This record gives sequence, C-alpha cells and structure tokens, in this order.
Amino acid sequence: MIVAALFLFFSTIALVFYFVYEKQTVISLSPNDKAVVLLGKTIYEQSCLSCHGAKLEGQSNWKSRNEAGMMPAPPHDKSGHTWHHADQLLFELTKFGLATFAGPDFKSDMPMFKDTLSDKEIIAVLSYIKSTWPQDIQDKQNQINQAYKQKSQ
Ligand code: HEC
Repeated sequence: MIVAALFLFFSTIALVFYFVYEKQTVISLSPNDKAVVLLGKTIYEQSCLSCHGAKLEGQSNWKSRNEAGMMPAPPHDKSGHTWHHADQLLFELTKFGLATFAGPDFKSDMPMFKDTLSDKEIIAVLSYIKSTWPQDIQDKQNQINQAYKQKSQ
C-alpha cells in the first residue's frame, strides 16, 4: 500500500516535471543565420514547394475550398497568414500537422513532418520562410512571438 502510494507520488512529480520541461522547450527561428536559411531553402524546395509554390505564393484561390472540398495550400509570403503565427506554433503545425490544433477529425492536405524532418530541419525551413518577409512583417511577427511567450509563461 505504502509502496503504491509512493509510486503514485513520484510518478505524479515526474509527470509535472515532464510537462514543465516540455513547455520550456520553446524554439525560435533564425532568419538572419545564412547557413540555417540556406539549409531551409533546400528543404523548402524538396518538401514544401510542390504545394506552397516556388515563390511562396500558395495555390490559386487559396481562401476557398477546392473541388475535393479541401483547403488549398496558403501562401507563405506576406499575403498569407503564416506570419500571423508565433515561431513555436509554426513549428508545431509543421511537425504535428494541423489536426493537433483543429482536432483529430480535421481533414487537411497539409502533411505532418514529424517522421520525415528533424527539429533542426523544421526550424531551418521556417527560418528560410521568415527570411523572405520584408522587415516590417518580420517585426510584426516578432511582436506576436513576444505576446506568445508571455502567454505561455
Ligand atoms: C501536399 C501539399 C503540402 C505540402 C507538401 C506542404 N504543405 Fe503546408 N499546407 C498545405 C495545405 C493544404 C495547408 C492548409 C491546410 C488547411 O487549412 O487545411 C497548409 C498549411 C500550412 C501551414 C499553416 C499556415 C497558416 O497560415 O495557418 C504551415 C505553417 C505550413 N503549411 C507549412 C508547410 C511547410 C513548412 C512545408 C514543408 C516542410 C509544407 N507546409 C508542405 C499543404 C502542403
């Protein structure tokens, strides 16, 4: 009985530490690091370009569902809403897919990359995308990052 209680006690503590640690691993993008951006560009061309476009322009009529009833790939340039999201959220969206946020029933053509790209590669590709935004858009997204960090503390 005491052993069971102790076990429960320590596993609860371990779990709490796990979640606190997980929350602390907040990533941030490096749009000014040339090596990271260069790696990201290659990954973009291999893994994202086919849907999100060579100029990050997205698919045509990206705001309306296509014939299959799915949302097309949105642009990652200034005209899209990628820059409306904090670094951490973009990372999680790319790694775990949109269903992580929109619920398991959410059907989307956006693949999840957790088995095909490493964390470092996901950060690189998103850093590349960010590096293409004009400075004023990068500044706005940095403010979104600040707000996100304060909220998750
Ligand atoms: C097979 C096509 C396809 C590929 C390949 C693809 N995406 Fe997407 N992506 C989509 C679609 C479609 C959406 C919109 C999903 C929806 O709303 O259902 C999307 C949405 C996103 C979003 C959310 C944007 C927002 O404004 O909310 C991000 C971030 C994203 N993709 C990043 C990437 C990255 C990074 C890669 C490459 C590593 C990639 N995608 C590869 C189809 C694709």
